[in-house]
Amino acid sequence: MKIQGAVALITGAAEGLGKAFSEELLKRSARGVSIVDYNSAKGKATEDELNKKYGEDKVRFFQCDVTSKDQLEDAFSKTLEHYKGIDIVCNNAGIGDEINWERTVDVDLVAVMRGTFLARQMMDKKNGGRGGIVINIASMAGMLPMPLAPAYTAAKHGVLGFTRAIAIGDRVFNPKNVRINCLCPSFSETAILEGMRELIKHPVAKAIYGSELETIPVSMVAEGFIQLVEDDSKHGEVMRCTPQNGIDYKKYRDWVPSKL
Ligand SMILES: NC(=O)c1ccc[n+]([C@@H]2O[C@H](COP(=O)([O-])OP(=O)(O)OC[C@H]3O[C@@H](n4cnc5c(N)ncnc54)[C@H](O)[C@@H]3O)[C@@H](O)[C@H]2O)c1
Repeated sequence: MKIQGAVALITGAAEGLGKAFSEELLKRSARGVSIVDYNSAKGKATEDELNKKYGEDKVRFFQCDVTSKDQLEDAFSKTLEHYKGIDIVCNNAGIGDEINWERTVDVDLVAVMRGTFLARQMMDKKNGGRGGIVINIASMAGMLPMPLAPAYTAAKHGVLGFTRAIAIGDRVFNPKNVRINCLCPSFSETAILEGMRELIKHPVAKAIYGSELETIPVSMVAEGFIQLVEDDSKHGEVMRCTPQNGIDYKKYRDWVPSKL
């Protein structure tokens, strides 16, 4: 997809990876980016910062708790109304709270599913949309267990399975013009990692991850995100961003007969 002139909606983009994705789109002359986040102080600050840098009305902040069906629907509708279309949706908002583990599943999985359904419905050409792309942010914890974060692991495995299933389903049964992909970063220096620092300091975690946690730069994840947006051949793919292999794709057996 050509990014120039495109409109994006990114959840959890007040800071961290979502903010970096927004900025990479704006550098490539996106028409507008809708930042959907529940942190109004950071959301407004990011809106101001990016509008000053890239031009008036390039960014709109919508305060929204992605776990609220009404608020999420409202954020999609307002973005559509304001920018007259949506081309890119990134379901990125995430937390890693193992105490309030139900909340982790609600934010990291249920809201990603709801965001995918909304995006598919609004971007589908059959419904008056222009087609587009959905990128769901999972994690390497979507492929490998994070023993000290079982709820996070469950939610991220869910995002990966859901994204592959819906993408394959759309391709085989109900071809749409909306590509759906999953991005799985390894540890990267953002606020969420700060929150997990205590867990990662635990001797068990050190035994698993090593005494110095190897992280990837936020810029690598943003580069992967842009690749997925621009490469129209990618649908139902699982991209990994890791210190070991950089940006690559996990290969799966294509179990749907190619004759179909
Ligand atoms: N940083 C990492 O190491 C890492 C690794 C793998 C995957 N991820 C995933 O990347 C995504 C982005 O995380 P990040 O690293 O940028 O973290 P971050 O903490 O910097 O950003 C998360 C953003 O989500 C927002 N958010 C949280 N709950 C929300 C809710 N209910 N409604 C609306 N917004 C909400 C926060 O306000 C924040 O702006 C998450 O899904 C995370 O699980 C991060």
